[in-house]
Amino acid sequence: MREINASIAIDKRLWREDIAASRAHAAMLGRQGILSEADARAIDEGLAEVGLEIGAGNLAEDPSLEDIHMHVEHRLAALIGEPAGRLHTARSRNDQVATDFKLFVRRAIDEAIAGIGALEAVLIDRAEEHAATVMPGFTHLQSGQPVTLGHHLMAYREMLTRDRSRFSEARARMNESPLGSAALAGTGFDIDREATARALGFDRPTANSIDAVSDRDFVVDYLHAAALTSVHLSRLAEEIVLWASQPFGFVRLPDAWSTGSSIMPNKRNPDAAELVRGHSARIIGDHVALLVLLKGLPLAYAKDLQDDKPPLFDAHDLLGLSLAAMAGMIADLEFVPERMRAAAAAGHATATDLADWLVADAGVPFREAHHIAGHAVAAAEDAGKALDQLSLDELRTVDDRIDARVLPRLSVEASVAARRSAGGTAPERVGQAIAAARAAMAAREGQ
Ligand code: ARG
Repeated sequence: MREINASIAIDKRLWREDIAASRAHAAMLGRQGILSEADARAIDEGLAEVGLEIGAGNLAEDPSLEDIHMHVEHRLAALIGEPAGRLHTARSRNDQVATDFKLFVRRAIDEAIAGIGALEAVLIDRAEEHAATVMPGFTHLQSGQPVTLGHHLMAYREMLTRDRSRFSEARARMNESPLGSAALAGTGFDIDREATARALGFDRPTANSIDAVSDRDFVVDYLHAAALTSVHLSRLAEEIVLWASQPFGFVRLPDAWSTGSSIMPNKRNPDAAELVRGHSARIIGDHVALLVLLKGLPLAYAKDLQDDKPPLFDAHDLLGLSLAAMAGMIADLEFVPERMRAAAAAGHATATDLADWLVADAGVPFREAHHIAGHAVAAAEDAGKALDQLSLDELRTVDDRIDARVLPRLSVEASVAARRSAGGTAPERVGQAIAAARAAMAAREGQ
């Protein structure tokens, strides 16, 4: 029983939150006259001392004391004696653990938002550096149309922006204090829940005591936001793995971010990117674990809820590492623009530009223009050339409405420069997107 029941090895990570919430509770009990002023003060000073001890690494774990809440109270009793026994007046471990865990998750959200911001800043810097660098844009992992590397990197910045808003929405939704809900029914003591909520930085107390002790939606919200963020990081990681491979050669992984092989001296393996990709699987598993944990639970508290912590701690640790590693890798990646440009030009990637020119400058309907451009691609294949290397005569054999004006339009640089529509890949649009992203970043920092 002791072994299955104990959670101290895991929930000791809540010690800061446990002490903060207990101090807020004791101070409120003192102000309400539920505790004497002397007892409230003794408890407060004792809890501060317990915090110093644990902070210094002196927590004597004892599985028979079950969890962090009992450890803190037990140590408090050893330090201050009888008043310690009054701390648990008008509360239960059920509202206590919900409060502690919310405080932890709230901090985890703040850390995730900071980590996302740091990665975003790196992406924006690299995008600015490569606003006009041409690379192949893919659909089906086949070269489709040339794009700019800056535009591609800024696509990830968009994902991260949504991730950040998911975290901040979760934070706003969860920020209600369960403290004072007691075991599940509330309490007969004249407590002041507004005061403890305010002291702990919550917006207000929760509205229903039964919900407050059994709600773990805030954990699910965190895990959903974390899982989706990790999926975005995993997609970026996958691109780094692909791009660093010899057939692509779009990036060179710096030494600091690659590992060797124990047998093949030539290897530079993208282990960090692969682990970011792998960690995403674990974070998704953590999200699923919480949903499944909750789905069959009747109200209110059941001990299953003790198993809410390992998935959250795991996801929080893995997400923090993944964000930091990704920011480091992106900052240090050496892009190889020559390889990207060569790949962008392969596969007659400007065929759409020929079709667009026929539409815009020769009045040809798009469907027919598409057909003609297809013939031009076939002619280029037959001649063993790239589309943009065909002579005007060769192009005119395909369709005599083609004239010399089209020739400068078929380079990859002209192709990306032409895609000036809002949200498009043209370097000038990428520049605008970067300016807007920087302005949003500055506005957030000014808040
Ligand atoms: N260690 C417990 C948890 O994490 C604390 C709450 C215990 N409550 C109870 N009714 N047994 O959930």
